[in-house]
Amino acid sequence: MNRKYRKTVIAGNWKMNKTPSETKEFMAQLKTIMPKGRWCDIALCVPAVCIPAAVRAMRETRVGIGAENCNANASGAYTGEIATNMLVDAGCKYVIIGHSERRAMGETDADVNAKVLAALEAGLTPIMCCGESLEQREAGITDEWIAMQIKLGLQGVAEDKIRKVIIAYEPIWAIGTGRTATPEQAEEVCENIRTVVRKLYSSKHARAISILYGGSMNEKNAFELLAQPDIDGGLIGGASLVPEKFVKIIEAANQPTV
Ligand code: 13P
Repeated sequence: MNRKYRKTVIAGNWKMNKTPSETKEFMAQLKTIMPKGRWCDIALCVPAVCIPAAVRAMRETRVGIGAENCNANASGAYTGEIATNMLVDAGCKYVIIGHSERRAMGETDADVNAKVLAALEAGLTPIMCCGESLEQREAGITDEWIAMQIKLGLQGVAEDKIRKVIIAYEPIWAIGTGRTATPEQAEEVCENIRTVVRKLYSSKHARAISILYGGSMNEKNAFELLAQPDIDGGLIGGASLVPEKFVKIIEAANQPTV
């Protein structure tokens, strides 16, 4: 982390977990144990049907609610899809875009790019995900793969908008497996992502962008991961479903930074 130049962000991704009623319960519990200090931004991205309950519960708090996906089109015949202006109107601040679980369902880099542009246009903060498979890591093409995902995902993002984008590095082999990347492995890729942003924009923009790590991040390994200079927070799956664990990760972000 580097609080001097950029925000630390602790974000939860609930994936397909919890009902609206369970959301209400979770938020009530979270509110009672939420740290008072403001050392990081906090986001919870929840299933679409849980957004109203989450927004209502967290209205007077500093927790921003987000969606887990969006459609890049403004409106129209897209059965089952949700447009960015609908998310804004429902009270969302964030939207996760290009999670590997969605890419596995067929989402392409072009889709990711269109969604990032639509989210920015609507005033949402996109959390754009990237990450390599185990095969790609073992083939030694992690850096190239990630650079390609970032370049394609950010195409057409104007210089005055890039600071609004949060990038999440999530190695696919570390998601839901309990096999976390080592702090060094995660740092190496996050540093590489910042270099890509520097080449696309400028040092100033690269320094200002928040890059998160995701993949089996939990209350035990968060401190060490967040201690890395280019890891500005976490995108947390499983551990974000338990208020106590999520709060411990928020607390781990309260450490001295460069
Ligand atoms: P886990 O923390 O459950 O590994 O999930 C990570 C993730 O995919 C967050 O988007």
